[in-house]
Amino acid sequence: KKVVLAYSGGLDTSVIVQWLKDTYDCEVVTFTADLGQGEEVEPARAKAQALGVKEIYIEDLRETFVRDYVFPMFRANTIYEGEYLLGTSIARPLIARRLIEIANETGADAIAHGATGKGNDQVRFELGAYALKPGVRVIAPWREWDLNSREKLMNYCEERNIPVDFAKNKKKSPYSMDANLLHISYEGGVLEDPWTEAEEEMWRWSVSPEAAPDQATYIDLTFERGDIVAIDGKAMKPHDVLSHLNKVGGENGVGRLDIVENRYVGMKSRGCYETPGGTIMLRAHRAIESITLDRESAHLKDELMPKYAELIYNGYWWSPERKMLQAAIDQSQGCVNGVVRLKLYKGNVIVVGRESEDSLFDASIATFEDDAGAYDQKDAEGFIKLNALRLRIAAKRGRLDD
Ligand code: ARG
Ligand code: SIN
Repeated sequence: KKVVLAYSGGLDTSVIVQWLKDTYDCEVVTFTADLGQGEEVEPARAKAQALGVKEIYIEDLRETFVRDYVFPMFRANTIYEGEYLLGTSIARPLIARRLIEIANETGADAIAHGATGKGNDQVRFELGAYALKPGVRVIAPWREWDLNSREKLMNYCEERNIPVDFAKNKKKSPYSMDANLLHISYEGGVLEDPWTEAEEEMWRWSVSPEAAPDQATYIDLTFERGDIVAIDGKAMKPHDVLSHLNKVGGENGVGRLDIVENRYVGMKSRGCYETPGGTIMLRAHRAIESITLDRESAHLKDELMPKYAELIYNGYWWSPERKMLQAAIDQSQGCVNGVVRLKLYKGNVIVVGRESEDSLFDASIATFEDDAGAYDQKDAEGFIKLNALRLRIAAKRGRLDD
């Protein structure tokens, strides 16, 4: 028997390698991905080797992550519960896909992950896995073992001779964190009290708005078919776009968020997020759509968006309904081309200009000056009267009385 494990190289997943062997007498294949979390992934090789792992997969997935997952999601202006930019949620389907592909390559019949039984991540990994390989077996050690404290984990390390440097890995953060090119998240610790403000030292990617420069930073973002393809006129790959925006956003205090969200499993959870690049992309994308999209297309997208966001949050990336919505969203983006100029200033993303060859904005119609007959103001009278007709009928019946 063989199991493919999503392996970070940290203490928890290292314990899982050993635990899988002990519990299931199986071979373990490890899979470690660089999604732009800002930590080296290569050290995971030596760690896996030290644990006796023979098949070790270490992959740089930054390009496909941003091109095939983050960008398609941003075409919909996606936000969960009005706030969360889904940084963790959107990475899970890609990890699930690679786990399954590696299982197929190595002849493994099971996959395993280090997500707990209380969270969203287990749902996302597993819905993805079942959608891509219906007969796969899933092992979620956190739902099975009783090593639910740090002390028990440490003791297990000692008993099984798991190298100590896993155990005392640097200074352990007091938070449960997850990072990739789109965001870094913090949960747990003092954040479990929703009234307690996060300490300044927690934030890793951004300066506080107070500490940001007094001078604004201007950037021009070029869109093609709804995706950013250049910054300040310089063509860039999707993952370079995002890492550049993270940098300038972070320097200007952009993208911090502190929320209480509803997890799919039913509980409320408090989380803090830094999403500098994503915050900029969302604002810019809405700005380019504001001149290029027809009103009803734009409004329809806005109606579909919360549903689409919920699907991704809940782990249904690999579902027929997500694909349906994606097709509609992608279809709308053909004309979403042009340039948006932004000003980043002390935590704010301010749109200051937008232009497009595909613009529907017509100054000769919109002008407050003489429009040379482009728009006949007399037409508005009938437009309003017909729209008022049912209101007048209802009013005569007294239906609109308080
Ligand atoms: N609450 C966020 C979400 O569900 C972040 C989850 C972070 N995951 C983690 N393993 N620390 O998308
Ligand atoms: C976890 O439980 O592994 C992290 C939190 C989440 O998945 O929502």
